[in-house]
Amino acid sequence: MKAIVFYEYGAPEVLQVQEIEKPVPRAGEVLVRVRAASVNPADHYLMRGRPYVFRMMSGWTRPKVNGIGQDFAGVVEGVGSGVDALRTGDEVFGEVAGQFSDVTRSFAEYIRVSAASVVTKPSNVSFAEAAAVPLAGRTALHALRDCGRIQPGQHVLINGAGGGVGVFAVQLAKHFGATVTAVCSESKGGLLRELGADRIIDYRQQDFTAERVSYDLIVDMVSSQSVRRCRRVLATHGTYVWVGAPDTDRWLGPLRPMFAVLWMSVLGGRQRWRCAATPQLPDDLMFLARLLADGKLRPVIDRRYPLEHGADAIRYLEQGHACGKIVIEV
Ligand SMILES: NC(=O)c1ccc[n+]([C@@H]2O[C@H](COP(=O)([O-])OP(=O)(O)OC[C@H]3O[C@@H](n4cnc5c(N)ncnc54)[C@H](OP(=O)(O)O)[C@@H]3O)[C@@H](O)[C@H]2O)c1
Repeated sequence: MKAIVFYEYGAPEVLQVQEIEKPVPRAGEVLVRVRAASVNPADHYLMRGRPYVFRMMSGWTRPKVNGIGQDFAGVVEGVGSGVDALRTGDEVFGEVAGQFSDVTRSFAEYIRVSAASVVTKPSNVSFAEAAAVPLAGRTALHALRDCGRIQPGQHVLINGAGGGVGVFAVQLAKHFGATVTAVCSESKGGLLRELGADRIIDYRQQDFTAERVSYDLIVDMVSSQSVRRCRRVLATHGTYVWVGAPDTDRWLGPLRPMFAVLWMSVLGGRQRWRCAATPQLPDDLMFLARLLADGKLRPVIDRRYPLEHGADAIRYLEQGHACGKIVIEV
């Protein structure tokens, strides 16, 4: 089968499309013929071996796992022993667990994956749309519901609303009954309004922390403002949830601003300061699958690339301005 593999850390040039052995499902696993996979910042950290702190898991000098890609959607082509809930021909989507040994990855024609980490694809969404959901959708859900304890009627600000996680966060916050302010670049305002945002702030024109508004919940994908500035616009009993930041620090990458948030969680008084570390829970993917089936959640795909051009998909992600998700079609 064809798969994207890499044997050293580096720029997208390290990615090669190669013929490798087709995996065989083991007990508790399924073999999925991948039809689409989506790209996440996690794939770019893995490819570059940056931030270095991640190499503690992925391999110090070279990658322990040579495949790449986490999210996928496809068709079950084989089942291992002990798998009763899925059959050959089922259309599914899911995620490869974040382990760093004995796994196959999703930028490939086939993937061997735990049956517990896939769910049935709703028939009203395409493979590409389903592949766009897992990590970004679950992160948005975890940040709003578990870390943010979102409540109907709250005023929520989503910073980085136009990206992979952001487009799901805006829709889910509306689903939970909040009033949503989306911070994004001007060109994404129309789409985010369509997805339910009540108010748009173009971050190139306006600093959201300079307003005289207070938010019950801030979900921050970009850490573009310091926690001290965010504190000003957070309600007395409000919650700030850190999700991510640009990869500017070679050792800690997006994790650096997280330490300020952890510090605030100790000193923040009545305000709550939380960091999202998305656990892999099949129930959350099931929750999102139901919203997709009911037409209440819309995946947004910015660009699609064939498997052979997977390196270009990561190059585009690295520019940092994708609108929703980038998908690799297999
Ligand atoms: N904690 C976790 O469990 C977890 C899980 C998944 C992802 N993450 C992290 O979350 C972050 C976002 O992931 P993603 O998949 O959404 O990335 P993405 O698809 O690259 O989206 C980032 C978005 O931020 C926007 N942006 C850039 N600068 C901005 C600014 N100053 N103000 C507001 N928006 C700005 C960009 O679009 P425009 O500039 O064009 O508006 C882009 O759409 C990453 O750091 C990722 O590593 C964390």
